Amino acid sequence: MVAEQVVVHKGLEGIHFDTTKICHIDGQKGILLYRGYNIHDLAANATYEEVCYLLLHDKLPTKQELAEFDAALKANRTLPSVVMDIIRTFKDAHPMDVLRTAVSALGCIDPDVKDMSMEANYRKAIRLTAQFPTIVAAHERIRKGLEPVSPRDDLGHAANFLWMLKGEEPDPDAARAMDLDFILHAEHSSNASAFAARVAASTLADMHSAVVAAIAALKGPLHGGAAEAVMEMVEAIGEPERAEAWVQEQLAAKKRIMGFGHRVYKTEDPRARHLRELSQVLGERYGDPKTFQILRNIEKAMEPLRAKGIYVNVDFYAGSIYHYLGIPADLYIPIFAIGRIIGWVTHIIEQFSDNRILRPLLHYVGPMEREWVPIEQRG
Ligand code: CMC
Repeated sequence: MVAEQVVVHKGLEGIHFDTTKICHIDGQKGILLYRGYNIHDLAANATYEEVCYLLLHDKLPTKQELAEFDAALKANRTLPSVVMDIIRTFKDAHPMDVLRTAVSALGCIDPDVKDMSMEANYRKAIRLTAQFPTIVAAHERIRKGLEPVSPRDDLGHAANFLWMLKGEEPDPDAARAMDLDFILHAEHSSNASAFAARVAASTLADMHSAVVAAIAALKGPLHGGAAEAVMEMVEAIGEPERAEAWVQEQLAAKKRIMGFGHRVYKTEDPRARHLRELSQVLGERYGDPKTFQILRNIEKAMEPLRAKGIYVNVDFYAGSIYHYLGIPADLYIPIFAIGRIIGWVTHIIEQFSDNRILRPLLHYVGPMEREWVPIEQRG
């Protein structure tokens, strides 16, 4: 028998499974565009709310449109009490598991649960974007034995998240740092979690189900979990002078350095520049330049790997931003999710708008036509 010629694209590398108008990445040149707008322009000028509107509606909002969109987000920040009860029940679980469970619960009681129209999907998209910060902040308060803090209508999305998390109004620099972090995490084309969301959406499952799939995919250390792992590395290194030797030891032991490498970028991830700058500013401001210095020294020690296309990615400096904002390490992935929810819902809507079920092939390499053996005769 002539063997079938099959090309296996392990990890689906290099495969375009559809077209998109949401996000463009040039991994060779380090370019990232949301709806055609360069991430550097958005980082310098936009608010997260504006970026959300841009992603969902494929245009920058006018003042009036932004005000209406902002009001819709604010009107949807409060969680139904039954979801608060679920958060209380699972308060000792990992915050990503609580987020996934809370979104699943919201999917059972959403006012548009049975409505698959585009209008209903936009409403669900706004509700989910507004509810994510409340879930994460409420869980953090409850597990610390504190009462959840109600959202405040006079605060923007990022500032309100920090307010609900800590119960004190953040200073404008902290609020802007969080806002910038959300902008930089808002969207990144067919990454594992957006792809998972699109796979679920392609079966015409509802938006909440698709978002649950995305949360599940984000949880792993090769995707959303890297920022937490980077800060564990900083702690293990302890002092800036130890960074180089530590990195060499890890590489000699064939271990990966978290926060480096990317499937698409073979040069520096354009988001890293903004987080590096922010990390340095916050380090000085909060009197802890050591964390930033350790990260810089790791980056220097990793320079030889640039020849293989391995550079810092978005997660390398992100953890230090959260650390400087006084946020515990196991909230780093949920914070990534708070920024990324808008990307997920936009992908789900795009998938619904021109759908074909996503159903790739696996090349079978196991045995063929094995002989059935009755259970009594099996050794
Ligand atoms: N440290 C050391 N070597 C690395 C690293 C790293 N962080 N990343 C890749 N390599 C090496 C890898 O060992 C392999 O070398 P060789 O060809 O000699 O075997 C080569 O680079 C290619 O690696 P790969 O695993 O085939 O690359 P991939 O495209 O399948 O994986 C990645 C991409 C992001 C999973 C991987 O680079 C990695 O594990 N990085 C660390 C985790 C991380 O920082 N994740 C966050 C990604 S960015 C945010 C997001 O999208 O969630």
